[in-house]
Amino acid sequence: MAIAFKQETFRDDFSYRNSAENIRRFPFPFDRDEYMYAVNMEPHVKGQKGTAFENLIDIDEHYVAEMRDRALVLKEDPLRYQALPHMMAAQWDTLELLMEEQAVGFPEHFTLARNGDQWRWINRPLGIDDTFTFGDRSTLPCEPLEYITRQAQGDFCIVDQRDGNLWMDAGMVTTQADWSLDFDIGMNFMEWHGPVPLAHQMGVFDRALKFLLNLQQGKPTRRFNWTMTINPRLDTSPENYHKWGPDRATVTTGNVGDKVHLRVEVQSLWRLPRSNAILFVIRCYLMNMNELVTVPKWARRFPRVLRTLPPELIDYKGLTRYRQTTIDWLSKFDDGEPTSPGT
Ligand code: HEM
Repeated sequence: MAIAFKQETFRDDFSYRNSAENIRRFPFPFDRDEYMYAVNMEPHVKGQKGTAFENLIDIDEHYVAEMRDRALVLKEDPLRYQALPHMMAAQWDTLELLMEEQAVGFPEHFTLARNGDQWRWINRPLGIDDTFTFGDRSTLPCEPLEYITRQAQGDFCIVDQRDGNLWMDAGMVTTQADWSLDFDIGMNFMEWHGPVPLAHQMGVFDRALKFLLNLQQGKPTRRFNWTMTINPRLDTSPENYHKWGPDRATVTTGNVGDKVHLRVEVQSLWRLPRSNAILFVIRCYLMNMNELVTVPKWARRFPRVLRTLPPELIDYKGLTRYRQTTIDWLSKFDDGEPTSPGT
């Protein structure tokens, strides 16, 4: 079924909202009333129709607006896209994967026609119809990773595997929760995870790295991450901290419902066929508190998660200024009833 793409903004007047249908497909990440870091990886397999897992690369009603926001970010700051020279094979791997998944999942919006290395790509929502030679950079308007990630929702990192480690050697990162590709490029798995509290001591990163080094082609894996954002802003980068950091001090009892957003990342990891690199997809979903409380079991669970969150995570996720106000507002929706495990 064709998606009705919304005209909306993730900045200035912040007109982004979820339709009732999109709220129902929101990937609520909590399967219990408290939260702590874990090696929470599961096979990235297709889920039920009408969910965010119906397809392995998800497109929703925010696609066109999100792509417009990405273009604005890149215009102001081209370093949000970077790829080191040895990543060209991985770039083509990624282009192939994203075109295939989008064309298979959403045939009414995307078509990929291949004749040997002559490919035709049609992206109807963005009005693109291009023919190019797979593997020949000169036949595209820009590098293959930039080309395809200007047409795919979420952020993308490609990590190279060598010396028993993973290296962040390419990416398109414009919708990130306060980290910078320009800062992290060329770092390894332990280095870029350096700022994360508690997880190193718990052995989470040792186990996660070991798992990823053995990731097999055709068996992608996924995990959830989450944080909170004030206003529906996609670009919460360190580069633009001066624009969004002060928003955290603007939350009041009167505006929690509109301003405070749960920000969920469905992260999927894919072994790439030619380069043996791993594609890390960070697909971001935003939902304000007014929308969240329309689902009673979420309204009950989320304040409990916030209330019991370890102090180190409150600080790292940047929730300190508005967490209590949000709990107070949400608590009227928590009837104290027990919740069931699972989402
Ligand atoms: C946070 C990248 C895989 C667990 C982060 C951050 C980055 C990142 C850039 C932000 C760090 C900062 O504050 O500057 C990646 C990449 C991965 C990957 C590129 C794939 C190759 C994983 C895996 C796990 C994991 C497999 C599983 C345990 C975490 C956790 C955080 C984090 C727990 C903190 C998130 C929060 O509390 O908001 N990751 N990561 N990451 N990562 Fe990863």
